[in-house]
Amino acid sequence: MGEEITQKIQQLLLMHDTIPQEVIDKKNIKLGLRNADGSGVKVGITAKGTCIGYDMIEKDGKRVKQPLPGKLFYANRDVEKIISGLELEKRFGYEEVVFLLLSGELPNETELEQFKDEIGRRRKLTRAERNILVQEAENYNQIYVLHSAIAHLGRCDVAADSSNLGDIINQCINIIAKLPTMITSGYNFTRFKNGGDLIMVVPDEDMCTAENFLYMINGEKPDTYDAMLFDKLLILHAEHGGGSNSTFVVRTVASSGANTYMALGAGVSSLSGHLHFGSDQSVIEMMRAMKKKLKKTDREKDVRNYILSILDKKSGDRSGQLHGFGHAVYTISDPRSIILKNYADEYSRQKGRIEDFHLFAMVEEMGSEILSERFNTPICANVDFYSALLYNLMGIPDDLFTPIFAMARMAGWSSHRIEQRQEGKIIRPAYIMPDNYLKEYPLNRK
Ligand code: ACO
Repeated sequence: MGEEITQKIQQLLLMHDTIPQEVIDKKNIKLGLRNADGSGVKVGITAKGTCIGYDMIEKDGKRVKQPLPGKLFYANRDVEKIISGLELEKRFGYEEVVFLLLSGELPNETELEQFKDEIGRRRKLTRAERNILVQEAENYNQIYVLHSAIAHLGRCDVAADSSNLGDIINQCINIIAKLPTMITSGYNFTRFKNGGDLIMVVPDEDMCTAENFLYMINGEKPDTYDAMLFDKLLILHAEHGGGSNSTFVVRTVASSGANTYMALGAGVSSLSGHLHFGSDQSVIEMMRAMKKKLKKTDREKDVRNYILSILDKKSGDRSGQLHGFGHAVYTISDPRSIILKNYADEYSRQKGRIEDFHLFAMVEEMGSEILSERFNTPICANVDFYSALLYNLMGIPDDLFTPIFAMARMAGWSSHRIEQRQEGKIIRPAYIMPDNYLKEYPLNRK
């Protein structure tokens, strides 16, 4: 009976919810907040971060995209330079980047030490916060655990609904500090619930975020190279401008006056989608399945055919997506992917898995070529592609890939949540009804 009425609703809504493309064009509707030329509709201004992947130029009387090599800036600093600077000085940098995103300026030495101490000190969970994770141990997806945990964190904060700027900054720093502990503890509780060993690790106040996270997963102090590489991964995922789906969601929710926990939790919800960041886990699953299918001979031909069959929904998860490729802004290249590819080359050699790197590099080359040809626009590997390989080489479980993204991006989301509070305007775009809907309808259908 219930199924019958559901089917009826489905049948009716399919008639009404599918608005013809000609109506959308005639009404000049910017679906997906995109202009007809593919560029994003400008709906805000931010000092936090920006990415560049194309320029708009006049060609034959039309405005068209001119693809450019990708660039990414955090508070006006070139991310490639941030990474190369840290590499040169052989030091960790995630906390410094968090400070930069929150405040708009790099900290001096004393400020950085104070900020690191503060993050370390706030890492530990209270009993109430730990209980949230125990309750969530049955949840099958770690990103859903994280979503619930952030909402419940609000329950543990007496000033949760305060609109005072100082309280909001405090809440953001608190969440940034506690998230790694919540992710690793949540994962360890779930592992135990599923029959694994119970690993209970107390966070280390003196380690930096990257070291502490790896330590909390394995219960052992991590190798310095691994921790520094993980630190770079966190930095490269920390921010991506206001147009990123999750960041826009955070800003939209915050703009209604919702509290920090609700706004940042909404960012996690957005992130769970496979068109956004949930993709890095899909990359490793896709590559694993591909590897199984490849024969020893004529690998190139096999890889090409496999990519084509993924796009034709005959292989992989049948979504038709080549995971880890494409981006709403980047065209020719994603600067994060270029940096991560170099690390993946070096790290896979260290781990004795250079063959895996070679397969990734082959898929990257062919995937970009095939997609660009098929969709008649330059499409490159995105940040998810090589980060999936790097996490896998580090021995990080697949289902932590997306939570790690959330953990890193919490810095960017927090900075946008605060900036949105300062801006103070509720985000409220317009929707219209197609003309025929504006006629009066009788309430009962015969
Ligand atoms: N696999 C299959 N088709 C793709 C892919 C892909 N990896 N990338 C782009 N396309 C298709 C798009 O669906 C679009 O098709 P359409 O013209 O029929 O609508 C066409 O290529 C052109 O796409 P773009 O305009 O360049 O990009 P768009 O903004 O539409 O899509 C997106 C961007 C959703 C990220 C897309 O590239 C995609 O689905 N990628 C795979 C999932 C993924 O890796 N997501 C992570 C993105 S990075 C991040 O969020 C951190």
